[in-house]
Amino acid sequence: MGGEHFKDDAAFIDTAVNDVARLQDYCGLTTSSSLYDWGCGAGRLAIGVRERLGTVADYHGVDVQPDVLGWAQAHLTAPGYRFTLVDVSNERYNPDGSPERTLAADPGSVDVFYAYSVFSHMNDQDTPAYMKLIAQALSPTGKALVTCFVEEGVPAWEENPAQYGPLEWKGRLHCTRFARRHFEDHVDAAGLAVDRFEYGRETDGQSLYVLRKR
Ligand SMILES: C[S@@+](CC[C@H](N)C(=O)[O-])C[C@H]1O[C@@H](n2cnc3c(N)ncnc32)[C@H](O)[C@@H]1O
Repeated sequence: MGGEHFKDDAAFIDTAVNDVARLQDYCGLTTSSSLYDWGCGAGRLAIGVRERLGTVADYHGVDVQPDVLGWAQAHLTAPGYRFTLVDVSNERYNPDGSPERTLAADPGSVDVFYAYSVFSHMNDQDTPAYMKLIAQALSPTGKALVTCFVEEGVPAWEENPAQYGPLEWKGRLHCTRFARRHFEDHVDAAGLAVDRFEYGRETDGQSLYVLRKR
């Protein structure tokens, strides 16, 4: 899971602790928050929460890959920490999954929503549909921190753009890149607004958005 991006275990944990600090700063995460980790993989963020905060009111990690989610479930489930496998389709990570999209979250239940490197592997039909589900899941004052590849002056959506970023992209949805305006149109159509934008400083050159309900 993101193996090439982490020098060693300590670096892996550092990125998670740093992201929890940003969730505190940018999204108001506290020990009383419900925190939803979409595309949680093996539970990197959960380890960061444990290290920095101990617990939150509810940490919920959700993923489509049984192997990595199963690892997180077996090793990181604890009071305040839960994990859910959703068998929904993603051409890269779960191509045979159901086309019925779900976040497995109750409406209005999420104070802080985190999606690191998830929209960076998503098609242009799932993206606006999930954006609407995120808006439904957020509490009235909830915030979402998401990362994705966005650029100015590029096609609306592209898969594995050539000569872009540090890697040679291979296979379905290895890198999905949006025109900034197009991505923000999806945000807007979902009833969300951009609270913060930081260009190009995340993994492989992704940008960071903090979103809130309009
Ligand atoms: C590049 S990994 C990022 C993992 C983790 N967020 C991190 O930063 O360490 C992308 C993850 O998103 C998950 N994913 C993709 N589509 C999903 C969906 N529709 N619902 C839940 N998880 C999804 C994949 O299975 C994969 O674990």
